[in-house]
Amino acid sequence: NVLILDFGSQYTQLIARRVRELNIFCEIFPYNNYPKDLSPYKAVILGGSPYSVRAEDALKIDLSEIRGKKPLLAVCYGAQYLAHFNGGEVAPSNIREYGRANLSFIKEDEEFLEKVAPNSQVWMSHSDTIKTLPTNGVRLASTKDVENAAYRIEGETTYAIQFHPEVYHSVDGKQILENFLVKIAKVEQSFTPNAFVDDCVKELQEKVGNDKVVLGLSGGVDSTVAAVLLNKAIGENLYCIFVNNGLLRKNEFENVLNQYKGMGLNVKGVDASERFLSALDGIEEPEAKRKAIGRVFIEVFDDEAHQIEDVKWLAQGTIYPDVIESVSVKGPSATIKSHHNVGGLPDFMKLQIVEPLRMLFKDEVRRVGKTLGIDAELLGRHPFPGPGLSIRILGAITPEKVRILQEVDAVFINGLKEHGLYDKVWQAGAILLPVNSVGVMGDERTYEKVVALRAVESTDGMTADWVHLPYDFLMKISNEIINKVKGVNRVVYDISSKPPATIEWE
Ligand code: XMP
Repeated sequence: NVLILDFGSQYTQLIARRVRELNIFCEIFPYNNYPKDLSPYKAVILGGSPYSVRAEDALKIDLSEIRGKKPLLAVCYGAQYLAHFNGGEVAPSNIREYGRANLSFIKEDEEFLEKVAPNSQVWMSHSDTIKTLPTNGVRLASTKDVENAAYRIEGETTYAIQFHPEVYHSVDGKQILENFLVKIAKVEQSFTPNAFVDDCVKELQEKVGNDKVVLGLSGGVDSTVAAVLLNKAIGENLYCIFVNNGLLRKNEFENVLNQYKGMGLNVKGVDASERFLSALDGIEEPEAKRKAIGRVFIEVFDDEAHQIEDVKWLAQGTIYPDVIESVSVKGPSATIKSHHNVGGLPDFMKLQIVEPLRMLFKDEVRRVGKTLGIDAELLGRHPFPGPGLSIRILGAITPEKVRILQEVDAVFINGLKEHGLYDKVWQAGAILLPVNSVGVMGDERTYEKVVALRAVESTDGMTADWVHLPYDFLMKISNEIINKVKGVNRVVYDISSKPPATIEWE
């Protein structure tokens, strides 16, 4: 088990993911709030930070608790911190040290840099530079502009690197992490999906015993994997509820429900479409739509859960990024959209919460799902927002608009699948605009709806780029939509990235 301390860098989660890719379990904690008892940890990594170690408000940590007691790897800010407060010197750099660089010097016979190629490319992102090494520092690598790109402390298992090993552009970054964790710190590489499933099933059995557990399935990856894990642990005592809010994709409710039943899950499908649509009647404002849907969902779910006699637990598909208490650099970020229906549980339900995936990243959830034998198509599904098509129908929602959008979306998504593009896209969908445009069909003037298609590449939804779908494909899909879907006479493609746009239009 490895402890990663967060100093507010956007890359900290990436370090954790790289470590996990080495089949090593790790946890992220804020630099100023981590477990006092370090005995479960075999190594510690200090992450980067947007702060300067020279600034008044530099983030400070008492390293005496860690140094010399645990193998320590200090990355970027960590490397500067270690130097600055231990007899070295950190100064503003004369040139911008951002982007790709190459290791022009690599000290020989150092376990830490074993198998790192001469001139290996690394990724720099810092504005201060380490002028002199701390006491007992031994230089291990340099680039053209950064003399102290890596160093260690003589007589300790303490290592420091100025560049970012976790970033993909640092070609041997993962090798360096492996050298440090496996060779030097002797951490076992035992965190595999199989091991996770075995441990998790055992823990779940101990935790919930013979109690009944209720879980809301959404058709998405996380809730499905959570359900299959629980099913493996407690079988029939798991009661799954899958609610149709009337805003799912075309035929989604029936298809996914059948798939769940085929997987042996004890699942009840509840068609509450009309209840949701009547609650949404006349509502135009995006946040008001989200609230209405959240409220009705809780009502429906609560009604259903009450029918399960003696249910004690509520299972949720929460994953690690939602759990990590990151060091906030700009203060609590402003609510842009009131996302994710997490924690949407009324007090009177008084259920205890069980979250089997709370320590996993999304890609790990997929791997666990694969180990559990869940269908690859289900695991590879694009993310889909809880409020469903309601936030892709701009303005007020009517059953007719839902029907139109379901048809358009189905043409687009099936097209992506047929052309082998679905897996190259992180998320795709169609948006029904509150705009009519003039068209001509045969000899007739038409005045019908406009739809926008959206397809983005992303890793976590926080940032996203629009996908350069082939023109031929877009042409074909546009024709098919206008020919097949009554009520639409124009198709546009969204070419905005996030930021400054967002993925959804509402
Ligand atoms: P945005 O539009 O903020 O979306 O760029 C980022 C990701 O979040 C999804 N999303 C939601 N998911 N409830 C959800 O469960 C919501 O209200 C919601 N709004 C956006 C969006 O689909 C994308 O994957």
